[in-house]
Amino acid sequence: MSDHLQNRRILLIVGGGIAAYKCLELIRRLRERGASVRVVLTAAGAEFVTKLSLGTLSGDKVYTDLFDLTDTAAIGHIELSRDADLLVVAPATADLMAKMAAGLAGDLVTTLLLATDKKVLIAPAMNVRMWTHRATQRNLEQLMADGIHIVGPNEGEMACNEFGYGRMAEPAEILAAIEAHFSELEFEGEQPLKGVHALITSGPTHEPIDPVRYLANRSSGKQGHAIATALARMGADVTLVSGPTNLPDPAGVTLKRVETAREMLVACEAALPADVAICAAAVADWRVDVDATQKIKKEPGASAPSLTLVENPDILATLSKLKTKRPTLVIGFAAETEKVIEHAVAKRLRKGCDWIVANDVSPETGVMGGELNTVHLITAEGQEDWPLLPKQAVAERLARRILAYFDSKKAKA
Ligand code: C5P
Repeated sequence: MSDHLQNRRILLIVGGGIAAYKCLELIRRLRERGASVRVVLTAAGAEFVTKLSLGTLSGDKVYTDLFDLTDTAAIGHIELSRDADLLVVAPATADLMAKMAAGLAGDLVTTLLLATDKKVLIAPAMNVRMWTHRATQRNLEQLMADGIHIVGPNEGEMACNEFGYGRMAEPAEILAAIEAHFSELEFEGEQPLKGVHALITSGPTHEPIDPVRYLANRSSGKQGHAIATALARMGADVTLVSGPTNLPDPAGVTLKRVETAREMLVACEAALPADVAICAAAVADWRVDVDATQKIKKEPGASAPSLTLVENPDILATLSKLKTKRPTLVIGFAAETEKVIEHAVAKRLRKGCDWIVANDVSPETGVMGGELNTVHLITAEGQEDWPLLPKQAVAERLARRILAYFDSKKAKA
C-alpha cells in the first residue's frame, strides 16, 4: 500500500515563535514516514531552536540566510525551493505572513517563498490579538486567495498566558495536512471510485431528555468526516449521515444532519442502495424513554426525576443484516481497551459486518481525544496491523483499501 510521504522532499521553513520547538517532532515524524526534510531557519527562529538540533534531526545542512547561498558551489535559493515537493512554514509568524502576502523578498526565506512554483502550507502561530487583528486576517485572506494552504491555528492556552486562537497546530495535524496535500495529488483528475455510492455515519448522537437537555458522548466526528473526504476525493458518490459536530462540511459530499440514533437509522435507510457503508458514528446505545414536550421543571422540594433508558437501534447491525439492499461491503468501528483483536473479531461476527476497524483506545495509546490512531483491520481473511497514524491518514488508507476491494471484485467479475 503506497504511503503518500515516502520519498517526498519537504522544505521546512522555521519562523520565530515559541512553537518552533514543535518542528523537531514534525521533522522526526516526517522522516519516520519516509520523507526527507531540509530546513531553512529564520534569524528569529534561531532564537528558539538551534541549527544543531534541526540539522541533527533532519540529517541535512540547515540554511539560514541569503548569503549562505552566494557561493557557486552551494545550492542556490531557487534550487532550494525547486528541489522540494512542498514548502511548509511552521511556525508562520504574523511577520512572515505579512511579508508573504505583500510579496517581499528581502532575505532567504521570503525569497524562497516568492521564487517557488511549489505548493506552500503554513501553520500560523502567534498571540491571539495578533491573530485576530484586522491586518493579519487581511493577510490571511490574501494568502488563501493566492492558493496557500493553511493548517491551524488552534484555540488554547498560549505561552503568553492568554487564551484563544493562535496556538500552532500540533505536529500530527501538520503531518496530516501534508499527507492530505500529497494524497490529493495522487488522485488529481482521476476518479477511481466513480460510480461507487458510499454511505458513512459520523459523530455522536444526541438523545433528548426534554426539549432543552440531551444525553451525548464525546465523539468529535473527525474520523468519519475524514473518511467521507477521502472517498469523495477518489470520486465516490458520498452520503454522510452525521450527528452534531463542530466540523466544517466536507467538500463534495451529500450531508444529512441528524440528532438521534433513530433519525440516523432513517437517514441511512433512505440513502440506500449503497455499495459500501462505513459506520464510524458513536451512536448512543440507549435513549431516554420520555416524550417530554416541555422542559422538566425543578420543583422546590421535589425529588430528582429518574430517567429510564431504552435501547437504540444498532445501525451497523441493521445495515449488515438487511435482506434486500444490503451494501456489498459493510464496515464497522470498534474501540477497545483490552483484548482488542479478540473483541473486534467477535464484534464482526455478532454485528454481521464484513470488516471491523479496531481502535486500541487503552490510555497508554493516547488515541482518545488525540489526533493519532492505532488501528487493526479485521476481515474474514484475518487481521492487518496498521502503524500509528493521524486520523486523516487512517481515512486515506481505508479509502485505498476499499478501492482495492472493488477493483478485485471487478477483476473477478
Ligand atoms: O457495539 P459498539 O458500539 O462497540 O460498536 C461499534 C460499531 O457499531 C461502530 O461501527 C458504530 O458506528 C456502530 N454502532 C451503530 N449503532 C449503534 C451502536 C453502534 O451503528 N447503536
